[in-house]
Amino acid sequence: MEHRIIFATGNEGKMREIREILKELEVPVLSMKEAGVSLDIEEDGKTFRENAEIKARAVWEKTGGIVLADDSGLEVDFLGGEPGVYSARYMGEDTSYEIKNREIIRRLEGVNGPERSARFVCVIAAVLPDGRILEAEGTMEGQIAMEPAGTGGFGYDPILYLPEYGKTGAQLSMEEKNEISHRGKALRAIKGELAGWLERERV
Ligand code: IMP
Repeated sequence: MEHRIIFATGNEGKMREIREILKELEVPVLSMKEAGVSLDIEEDGKTFRENAEIKARAVWEKTGGIVLADDSGLEVDFLGGEPGVYSARYMGEDTSYEIKNREIIRRLEGVNGPERSARFVCVIAAVLPDGRILEAEGTMEGQIAMEPAGTGGFGYDPILYLPEYGKTGAQLSMEEKNEISHRGKALRAIKGELAGWLERERV
């Protein structure tokens, strides 16, 4: 049977990255739009994993086949893991990241070094044609910078300082970031799982 993968996102930037990493599977990768699915999914899970599963399962109910979805965000240890699953909604969906980033730095005033630890987390859930779920997680560890820096990337990238690189996420090229990012790691891990599954399907 010829397979196809639907990735439950409307974000074109993510789709480019996803297609690049999954191309070795030699299976067409479609966005929700390309698959003709229009759904407003309420991400009311308490964890990245729950949200990724909610999204993948909701689309799969409509389409069957193989459906992938991701959920990601920034966890700041000093803030008890905030903004976490609320990363996109933190201070309101329409608030600029310049303001969100300044606010996180302000909340860490007087906090130094390792106590500023934070990470991006990405969980990818894959629902298979028989309804089983595979999952993969990736993280990118760093510290909240003292000042935002860099113009690349998006979202919270200017404030996640990566000590190993001496740069924030927004100071990396897209290629550099894909190699070490939470999403890149989770995608490569799920690719491995899917490759194993496809291999068994084809024999
Ligand atoms: P999602 O699209 O529902 O997974 O929302 C993730 C949110 O987490 C985004 O809106 C960003 O605020 C944040 N986020 C996730 N990954 C990154 C990243 O690589 N850089 C910067 N912000 C990120």
